Amino acid sequence: MTVWVEGATGKAGRRVVDALTAAGVPVRAASRHPGPAHGPVTPVRFDWTDETTWAPALGDAEALFVKGLDSDVDAAKVIARLIASAPSARRVVLMSAAGVDRAPDHAPRRAVELAVRDSGLPWTVLRPNWFLQNFGEDEWVFARALRETGELYAGSGDSRVSFTDTRDLADAAVTVLTENGHDGRGYTITGPEAVTFGEVARVLAEASGRPIRHRDATPAEHQAHFAKSGRPDAWVEHMLELFELVRAGVSAPVSDDFRRLTGKAPRTLAAYAEERWRS
Ligand SMILES: NC(=O)c1ccc[n+]([C@@H]2O[C@H](COP(=O)([O-])OP(=O)(O)OC[C@H]3O[C@@H](n4cnc5c(N)ncnc54)[C@H](OP(=O)(O)O)[C@@H]3O)[C@@H](O)[C@H]2O)c1
Repeated sequence: MTVWVEGATGKAGRRVVDALTAAGVPVRAASRHPGPAHGPVTPVRFDWTDETTWAPALGDAEALFVKGLDSDVDAAKVIARLIASAPSARRVVLMSAAGVDRAPDHAPRRAVELAVRDSGLPWTVLRPNWFLQNFGEDEWVFARALRETGELYAGSGDSRVSFTDTRDLADAAVTVLTENGHDGRGYTITGPEAVTFGEVARVLAEASGRPIRHRDATPAEHQAHFAKSGRPDAWVEHMLELFELVRAGVSAPVSDDFRRLTGKAPRTLAAYAEERWRS
């Protein structure tokens, strides 16, 4: 089985490619900027906005790992078209996000889940929570402010988040892509504990030896901060909505699905900080 991995150079997709490769599964690694081929990984050029890239990128892949197009209101239609243009595909795994199953059907991210459910292929949805890797790797969500001012910029109040290590998401993806029994199911992949952003700041500060503090930004401050990114307004709106959900407590529940799927304990914030932030 060859797996087509979309977003293959991203925080999650990169780890999915690594985990599939470690499991001996051939991969077509799709992104706009594919690197050179290595081992069982075939990087392929794919652009959601250029449909002429789709068929050559998909090739004869038998399974698809796709993530959403979060701030795109047409995402559900686009993903339905993509799946329909993958004639060799026998299975699709969608990376959605924790809590999306409780969103109304017309919400863009829930509509994507429903498009995958209605695609005609056997499907599985993985719903990770906020990624731990955002702190070091997502320039505008957290990494830039952390680097430049030591601020963990998050309008979260004291609400908690059960952060997911993307390597756990990747291990869960390998399980549902390579084992039977997961068709028509959704799994919520979280870390083992729910922590506040204040606690995250303290753990990152201890590991790095640098002063880091939580900046509990107001929505207006947050908007001004994200606006500096130059990213589309729809992305800024999407991020503000995500922080509203955090404040409402939606990102706090801890799920046991990862342990049940893989038999392993999920990775902790402390372990991530030791590995990535220890100076
Ligand atoms: N970040 C979180 O905390 C979090 C938590 C839960 C769920 N999620 C879900 O995870 C997804 C984001 O994954 P991520 O954080 O791993 O992504 P990411 O790190 O932002 O990487 C984005 C990936 O998509 C590719 N890409 C960007 N624009 C593209 C386009 N027009 N056509 C084709 N490929 C494109 C990028 O490569 P190129 O630039 O080379 O194309 C890259 O591989 C979202 O759907 C989000 O809902 C995220």
